[in-house]
Amino acid sequence: MTAEYKVHGDVAVITMNNPPVNGLGYSTRVGITDGLAKAIADDSVKSIIITGAGRAFSGGADIKEFGTSKAVAEPNLLSVILALEASPKPTIAAMHSVAMGGGLELALGCSYRICAPGTSIALPEVKLGLIPGAGGTMRLPRVLGVETALNMIVSGEPVKSELLAQQPGQKLFDKMASSAESLAEEALAYARSVADARPLPLVRNLPCKHPQGDAYFQFARNMVKGMAKNFPAPVKCVDQVENATKMKFDEGMTAEREIFTNLMLTPESRALRHLFVAERAASKIPDVPEDTPQRDIKSVAVIGAGTMGGGISMNFLNAGIPVKVLEMKQEALDKGLGIIRKNYESQVKRGKLKQDKYEQRMALLSTTLDYNDLKDADLAIEAVFEEMGVKQKVFEKLDEVMKPGAILASNTSTLDVNKIASFTKRPQDVVGLHFFSPANVMKLLEVVRGAKTGKDVMATVMTVGKKIKKTAVVSGVCDGFIGNRMIEQYSRQAGFLLDEGATPAQVDRAVEKFGFAMGPFRMGDLAGNDIGWAIRKRRAEERPNLLYSRTADKLCELGRFGQKTGAGWYDYKEGKRDAIPSDLVVKMIEDHRKELGITPRKISDEEIVQRLVFALVNEAAHILEEGIASKASDIDMVYITGYGFPMHRGGPMLYADQVGLFNVVQAMKRFQQNPRDDAKFWEPAPLLARLAADGKTFN
Ligand code: NAI
Repeated sequence: MTAEYKVHGDVAVITMNNPPVNGLGYSTRVGITDGLAKAIADDSVKSIIITGAGRAFSGGADIKEFGTSKAVAEPNLLSVILALEASPKPTIAAMHSVAMGGGLELALGCSYRICAPGTSIALPEVKLGLIPGAGGTMRLPRVLGVETALNMIVSGEPVKSELLAQQPGQKLFDKMASSAESLAEEALAYARSVADARPLPLVRNLPCKHPQGDAYFQFARNMVKGMAKNFPAPVKCVDQVENATKMKFDEGMTAEREIFTNLMLTPESRALRHLFVAERAASKIPDVPEDTPQRDIKSVAVIGAGTMGGGISMNFLNAGIPVKVLEMKQEALDKGLGIIRKNYESQVKRGKLKQDKYEQRMALLSTTLDYNDLKDADLAIEAVFEEMGVKQKVFEKLDEVMKPGAILASNTSTLDVNKIASFTKRPQDVVGLHFFSPANVMKLLEVVRGAKTGKDVMATVMTVGKKIKKTAVVSGVCDGFIGNRMIEQYSRQAGFLLDEGATPAQVDRAVEKFGFAMGPFRMGDLAGNDIGWAIRKRRAEERPNLLYSRTADKLCELGRFGQKTGAGWYDYKEGKRDAIPSDLVVKMIEDHRKELGITPRKISDEEIVQRLVFALVNEAAHILEEGIASKASDIDMVYITGYGFPMHRGGPMLYADQVGLFNVVQAMKRFQQNPRDDAKFWEPAPLLARLAADGKTFN
């Protein structure tokens, strides 16, 4: 049982105790209803408090039960709330720390609510593509007014209890406790003060009206529609709160249930719930126990103050961790420091950062040209040129100067981390920390685990990732790790599509319509087409027989590296980022087709999306089978947080699951028949073929 029952004189106290946030799982729900029944049956009990142990009143649904029959088993949350409403004795929710989702709905079913200041109050269901499903849409507007409630329901964002308590006429809290520490005592006193109050108040009996309802809801719906883009739930929140103002209470409850149940079945909600669980799962490494001792990271050294070094440093400064940056020359240091400063100053100008915070952060930053100055750092991150020879020199030097136990990390995007580790006498301390550009903005951090990387090093860097607010995903060692290894296949398909008849603008449009933030060609222009060019040249030596379209190389031979050179796949007006389709590039592609003797064909948007996305999926299946990624959901996290994959699709693997792996395999077999494509690549990866044959899914 994850709820405790105690009697203090004439007051019964039911304490939810289901760490970490008292999720309302099956046994907690049973604990509450059992406690309630006991309290009602006990003549000496006059009133009943419900509260939460530890760090929360309740965070809502228990994520461990997501998608299982336990989540809906009786007593379900609706039944628990009905039981509370039916209690002949006053029930008092004593809220503190966190009262969210089902937790808040539970409190709204009690006769009274007492709350500690600093409590985060929210109905965050919309973030999972849902609306509140246990009366939240019906009761919150009754206690906070329609507008405040709708704002909270549609945004899902938490609001502090003391702010809500100030709202005139609010009925969410009957009393604010003076502090979290005194809540228990004040709740007991309050419970005694209402012991004889009759009739007992019920939120459902309060009125729910908006004086200009029709106009208000139309306005709200228009606003929300524009912002919600690919997600149906936010507009449904508006619909349902409107229902709350127009329907009788029980009718409104039925409507809420119906909308909730329908949303539950949408692919968008499935995607958001998948990502919610995937994010938490990514931080767990199967063979690294959670209690693995970790190293203390109090200061960081960054080698190289270029594009990546600067952004990487900012992550640590933002988290209050001192950083020392090393470069080869003073000018490079000055330039790097200047960029960091400019970045922060622009944040200050835009009101995103306070001046004093900016100064505090800059005060944590120091620079050096001398490796000896790095020796006390707990973690060194190398971000120098992408050449093995340069990396070798840096790591030999780090091995020489760094104190024992320091972690030595490389930000390499393609090089062999095991080889880099072999340049040191402490390969157990070496790990890849692959940040994405711009490193101070992008959420993804690929943690590359070398063959000899210590478990304590892995545990430590995962914690560091969390501290600097990244989504850390573990990858094994291979060329490109998880993300870039997959993107190579996606880029190859984009190239073949040009050869066969598509234009860059058509490919980008199709992919952007699917939901990607940016199509492959606009992306190339933004990142710099020369980066891919350099990588292709290296790979051409390693894999001379690899088929790929030559168009990207031809573009680079024209010096069209993208936005930075004012021209790439698209033309750009000076100082502007708008991509203008380029006649010159289209002609270049047409000439290339002629050279190859290809008659262009009309290619559908559907084919474009399938070839690009299924190319990711097939490579990912190899990655999974080789153990480079330990679970499919990790791959989804990489693509959502690092590659602009549409969130409402849940990542490439969940998307493939939803399309059906059988259908994915069928499409691949069709692509194998295309003489211009790489038939060998489209051979479904063995894992994918097995899952499809067994009717199974990746996730
Ligand atoms: P960059 O060329 O902007 O910066 C490299 C910096 O390292 C330069 O300032 C250079 O002076 C310095 N440097 C070179 N050799 C050095 C040495 N021996 N000691 C100290 N400093 C030295 O390069 P960028 O783009 O920052 O890339 C750095 C690393 O990050 C590379 O390994 C790259 O593959 C990786 N990376 C790059 C990404 C990108 O989008 N630019 C994304 C993810 C990883």
